[in-house]
Amino acid sequence: MSLLLALSLICGSMLHVSFSALNNHYCVPRKTVLYQNELKSFREEGIFNYSTMLMRDDLGVLLLGAREAIYALDIDNISVRKSVVYWRVTEEKQRECTYKGKHAEVECRNYIRTLHKMNDTTVYVCGTNAFSPTCDYLTFVNGQLRLEGKQEEGKGKCPFDPFQRYSSLMVGNDLYSATSINFLGSEPVVLRSSDLALRTEFKSSWLSEPNFVYMDFVRESLDSPDGDDDKVYLFFSENAMEYDFYSKVAVPRVARVCKGDMGGQRTLQRKWTSFLKARLDCSLPEPSLPPIVQDVFLLKHKDWRKSVFYAVFTPQSSLSQASAVCAYSASAIQDIFNEGKFKTPVAVETSHVKWVMYTGEVPVPRPGACINNVARKMGMNRSLDLPDKTLQFIRDRPLMDEAVRPLTGGPLLVKRGALLTRIVVDSVLALDGQRHAVMFIGTENGYIQKAVNYHGEMFIIEEIQLYENPVPISTLRISSNKSQLYAGSEYGVVQMPLSNCSRYDTCVDCILARDPYCAWDVTIEQCDSVYSSSSSSKAAIQSLKEGDISQCPQPDPVAAVDFTLVPGNNIQLPCQLHSNLAQVLWRFSDQTLHSNNKYYIYSGGLLILSASESDAGVYTCGSVEQINGRTYNRTVAVYHLQLYAGPEVRDSTTPSNEVIDSSDSNHSLNTTAPRPETTPGVEDPLSPENQSDTSRVTRLEVAVGLLSLLCLFLMGVIFFIWSQRRWGCFKLEQRSNESEAKRQSAEYMHIQNRTSEIKLLGPESRRACSANNNHSAVDFKGNGEHHFTPMANISSLDGLGYINDESEI
Ligand SMILES: *[C@@H]1O[C@H](CO)[C@@H](O)[C@H](O)[C@H]1NC(C)=O
Ligand SMILES: *[C@@H]1O[C@H](CO)[C@@H](O)[C@H](O)[C@H]1NC(C)=O
Ligand SMILES: *[C@@H]1O[C@H](CO)[C@@H](O)[C@H](O)[C@H]1NC(C)=O
Ligand SMILES: *[C@@H]1O[C@H](CO)[C@@H](O)[C@H](O)[C@H]1NC(C)=O
Ligand SMILES: *[C@@H]1O[C@H](CO)[C@@H](O)[C@H](O)[C@H]1NC(C)=O
Ligand SMILES: *[C@@H]1O[C@H](CO)[C@@H](O)[C@H](O)[C@H]1NC(C)=O
Ligand SMILES: *[C@@H]1O[C@H](CO)[C@@H](O)[C@H](O)[C@H]1NC(C)=O
Ligand SMILES: *[C@@H]1O[C@H](CO)[C@@H](O)[C@H](O)[C@H]1NC(C)=O
Ligand SMILES: *[C@@H]1O[C@H](CO)[C@@H](O)[C@H](O)[C@H]1NC(C)=O
Ligand SMILES: *[C@@H]1O[C@H](CO)[C@@H](O)[C@H](O)[C@H]1NC(C)=O
Repeated sequence: MSLLLALSLICGSMLHVSFSALNNHYCVPRKTVLYQNELKSFREEGIFNYSTMLMRDDLGVLLLGAREAIYALDIDNISVRKSVVYWRVTEEKQRECTYKGKHAEVECRNYIRTLHKMNDTTVYVCGTNAFSPTCDYLTFVNGQLRLEGKQEEGKGKCPFDPFQRYSSLMVGNDLYSATSINFLGSEPVVLRSSDLALRTEFKSSWLSEPNFVYMDFVRESLDSPDGDDDKVYLFFSENAMEYDFYSKVAVPRVARVCKGDMGGQRTLQRKWTSFLKARLDCSLPEPSLPPIVQDVFLLKHKDWRKSVFYAVFTPQSSLSQASAVCAYSASAIQDIFNEGKFKTPVAVETSHVKWVMYTGEVPVPRPGACINNVARKMGMNRSLDLPDKTLQFIRDRPLMDEAVRPLTGGPLLVKRGALLTRIVVDSVLALDGQRHAVMFIGTENGYIQKAVNYHGEMFIIEEIQLYENPVPISTLRISSNKSQLYAGSEYGVVQMPLSNCSRYDTCVDCILARDPYCAWDVTIEQCDSVYSSSSSSKAAIQSLKEGDISQCPQPDPVAAVDFTLVPGNNIQLPCQLHSNLAQVLWRFSDQTLHSNNKYYIYSGGLLILSASESDAGVYTCGSVEQINGRTYNRTVAVYHLQLYAGPEVRDSTTPSNEVIDSSDSNHSLNTTAPRPETTPGVEDPLSPENQSDTSRVTRLEVAVGLLSLLCLFLMGVIFFIWSQRRWGCFKLEQRSNESEAKRQSAEYMHIQNRTSEIKLLGPESRRACSANNNHSAVDFKGNGEHHFTPMANISSLDGLGYINDESEI
């Protein structure tokens, strides 16, 4: 079985490498804004790990927790430090910590990990305090931060280990936390610290080496017809129990508890009676192990059913580099927990347990449900009143059978390259009255990816480099009110506006940016924020889904720049495209230029090597950009190369190998009349062309097709040999292997005929970044079957001894 897995992984990764070569182009952000030392930022010399933030719009400050320091920063300009308190570990604590084998300067420090609002003036703060978690109260009065010095035990509220992920949440005066409760970090808990403290059962079926990432609160009691309770949701990953696998596999999970839970009377005393968990499904467009959830953001809606959790996933095996964002509606999650089937453990061999769907009778009140009208009618007003039967059921079966499916069936975004780390989402009201969820996603190399999904089309508006060095973004916070984003890392915090429409200086660029925050203001002829007062009253153009530029005023034709040609010189004609998605098209007279030993086309323009008299003439630099299947051509620059005419030209003495650059010195002795219209090859910039992607099959795609063919064949052969050898190992497998082997030999025949299908792979997989969510891909079931299936069904684990139903045993 492991041989098979290894094989499918190898083939998968081979395919992946070729896929990514294809996809890269389509995953690129439209615009890249490189690091400029213009953004407001904050850091203090000697202080690191700016990892905890609490937005206090009401006080006009951002509270920032770092290693041994807490700051109050001006929310409008975080470079302005209003106040600071230092909370250092005592020498004694540090000594104790190093005595236990921890690193004095790294682990035996106080990392501020918790900042929660208690009331207008007071904040609850916890730090790791040299592997001895401690909490305190922090006040912000008259512009001054002060630690109250009322230190409390922080065990279970804050991790011991500063490198461990954890999550916490304050609801009213109750602190919900998900972390490890012991020094070794081996005893995970989900804890509520309140008058009636509750925690999870210490069983691996509840939590198995979890990595907690996010918690939030959903007010589900509002207008609830069943008298339901409010919930606290928790996102994490843990070791899978539902897969029968040769080694540990992690799975992403969502769990929840009810706010009104009080634990059980005899069973589950002081433990959650409402702890339920389910697997999160986020299928990547390539065969892989389940991706791991890294961060979540809850985009709240007045009607909680319309609230949406946005989650960032990264691969758990280094074979894949695709990160993804999947969105889950709060109501879909609720449906799984309120109505879904449970999984139950079944012993199949001695000391071996499989988790399968529970098909027996489920007790009433439903296990794991909050106290609702059903329970109240049965005279149960508190979880303490619940019968043992219900409690015992849930104690042993906290896992739901079904996974939570993403809102759109598949990922909203798939991105290769630097892994995604954190996410926040803003809901933007566009000019057409529609709301769009704009995702701001931090990466492990210090970038923010600003992305939207327009009806299944993944689109990255821009990427912005926030840090000069490639540091991972470890915290993201958003202030929709201030239209600002705050990003923390080990080395500091950077503040960034949610949009900067002034980056787009023409109408066409403004529209093609498809940024819901920006519209072209016809009156002031500027790309302006849709929120700004000036554009609300006046005519503004925006076309988010289509990128339709037909309403843009006809741009002034590009004026030709005259340029002197001195035979023997190298000539550099600069041309900067507006978009990473555009391709440059250089034309000279009637012909399209390509890089060769005469011309060198690079990102900044064209280099004509050792020009001769025959090179005189008109050069145009055009940009060809595809948006939503349409092609936009436009002229970016026009140069008129004229032969050096005599000694009156200033540059006659230019040494013959010097590169002449029109941007340095003005060679245009005369700005000729506009004439791009007459230039062959560069057509009217305002005519989109509906050219189909799929019609163009590149050589690379054919290569991928062949590669996958080879892979399938190889897998088939090896599986065949393997299944012959392993005949009759397990009853269960024997049964399936028999039919498999038959199918296997038939499969060889099929593969020959499947070439056309395989070819489809290329153009289809591109859509991972450009079109709808109904991707197709090869499904490596691991059992020798290879077929093209809708993405939602992809799981390399299916078929690896995974039993779907109790009745199959
Ligand atoms: C957001 O801004 C509006 C007006 O600018 C203000 O009334 C509101 O209180 C602000 N919200 C918060 C949370 O500060
Ligand atoms: C932000 O504050 C810093 C430090 O006081 C100051 O130098 C800078 O000019 C301010 N920026 C803006 C845009 O006000
Ligand atoms: C805020 O909460 C703290 C801690 O519970 C309490 O001591 C303080 O009196 C409260 N302040 C106000 C203004 O309610
Ligand atoms: C804190 O930052 C320092 C300096 O970059 C780094 O060496 C250390 O690993 C960080 N600690 C944590 C817990 O991230
Ligand atoms: C539950 O609450 C209802 C109304 O609040 C009350 O009439 C009933 O006696 C309570 N039942 C129990 C078992 O406490
Ligand atoms: C917005 O972009 C313009 C043009 O690139 C730049 O000059 C300006 O500093 C940017 N503004 C902010 C707040 O980043
Ligand atoms: C070059 O000179 C023309 C006028 O002859 C002027 O319009 C143009 O702006 C100049 N370009 C540069 C780059 O200086
Ligand atoms: C540029 O050339 C045109 C004719 O080609 C001429 O009419 C015009 O005066 C010239 N302009 C300058 C600034 O030399
Ligand atoms: C745009 O440019 C491409 C590439 O040269 C060309 O094939 C196409 O015909 C042009 N389309 C329009 C509408 O000009
Ligand atoms: C583009 O689409 C329009 C209408 O959808 C159609 O009339 C036209 O023929 C198409 N052009 C091309 C080149 O496919």
